[in-house]
Amino acid sequence: MVSPTLQELRQKDRAHHIHPFTHHGDMHREGTRWIKTGDGCYLIDENDRRLLDGLAGLWCVNVGYNCTAIVEAVHRQMEQLPYYPSFFNTTTEPPVLLAEWLAERAPARLKRVVYSNSGSESNETALKIIRAYWKLRGKSQKRKVLSRNFAYHGVTLAATSLTGLPNCYEPFDLPLEGFLKIPAPYAWHDGAAATEAYGADVIARTAEIIDREGSETIAAMFVEPIQGAGGVIVPPPGYLKALRELCRERDILFVADEVITAFGRLGCWFASVRDDLDPDLMNIAKGLTSGYLPLGATLVSNEITDVIHTGGYFAHGYTYTGHPTCAAAGLANVRVIESLGLIDAVRTDVGPYFQQKLRELADHPAVGEVRGDHLIGAAELVEPGGTRPPGKLLGLKAAELIREEGAIVRGIRDLIALAPPLIITRPQIDELFAAVRRGLDRLTA
Ligand SMILES: Cc1ncc(COP(=O)(O)O)c(C=O)c1O
Repeated sequence: MVSPTLQELRQKDRAHHIHPFTHHGDMHREGTRWIKTGDGCYLIDENDRRLLDGLAGLWCVNVGYNCTAIVEAVHRQMEQLPYYPSFFNTTTEPPVLLAEWLAERAPARLKRVVYSNSGSESNETALKIIRAYWKLRGKSQKRKVLSRNFAYHGVTLAATSLTGLPNCYEPFDLPLEGFLKIPAPYAWHDGAAATEAYGADVIARTAEIIDREGSETIAAMFVEPIQGAGGVIVPPPGYLKALRELCRERDILFVADEVITAFGRLGCWFASVRDDLDPDLMNIAKGLTSGYLPLGATLVSNEITDVIHTGGYFAHGYTYTGHPTCAAAGLANVRVIESLGLIDAVRTDVGPYFQQKLRELADHPAVGEVRGDHLIGAAELVEPGGTRPPGKLLGLKAAELIREEGAIVRGIRDLIALAPPLIITRPQIDELFAAVRRGLDRLTA
């Protein structure tokens, strides 16, 4: 078969393919971009340009591209048994072994795993379990769900409703009723310094909303330990522990959405363990397979599981819940992270170095603030003279220029976000920040 030319591919793309989170008019005017192959931390585009991937795909390719151990594990499982469901009192081996692996490292009370195919579905699954839990406990009036402004929890009807980014609501007529927003600890946005006092003020404002609504009507709060897609919002000291405590005091289930923060990006397997958050449920996806195959999971506490089991038949699950090949990819992925010592490398070496380079960027005239944690970071951009540019989308413009300079970062409103693969080396971090600096120089030129 003759391969189509780039122009033919672009025509087919325009004719038949709807992309996620895309303005299709703009994309087709400029020509859809193509990624042909990947190599470690690099991608090769349609012009055979090598691009350093400063976003690990979409915050997920933790072990980098072409990891043969995952490819071989997937191949072996495909040959042995590509698929069989976990319905009908049956299972296959990989999802059980992966569930055991997760339970051994997850926060202490989370010993049960419900699989899904994505972060959105893991949040959706958590929401259904939470509704069932309160109903079976005779408290069905506990139905409202809290999440924060600037949160990103996915795109199903309920996950969009959890999301705190209004541009995700239109034209879908969302959020659904009962999904309430509480403040984010976004100091830069509030014109404040990210101090403990600022964090305490955000908590006080959150408590006011809970009291106004009545905690007897509130089922759960969904929390990303670091808000990723909303702009890499790193909470001030003391805030997360206080938020967790507030939920405990008011009998509100605390759900950690670790779709970005789990599997090494913060120099630990789970932020909930590192920061002692003791969640009632925890959602994971992305780094669980390093994006090699789609897999999400909701980890559930024993207390909740026991209540759910009193309900008898558990009428929830997808055709691909516990997919053996996706779980085999997950198992191989966590073993690669272990065998390469990536958690330690991020915690003690490349994570601190990345933060050092990020902080050096703060002296650039286009940068108003930098913030981050190990291998995730963001720079808020400003106009010459340091004025804030609401609505100018400086982040999107900067990301374009940085791509021309050889690296991929994410533009969000007026900021750029970075989250490279965990296998990145110090020289590659230098290369990444050099490209960022050149792009920002051009932005201010
Ligand atoms: C924290 C968080 N939760 C949920 C999701 C949704 O995951 P998915 O796109 O796999 O549905 C994302 C995706 O970026 C995320 O960052």
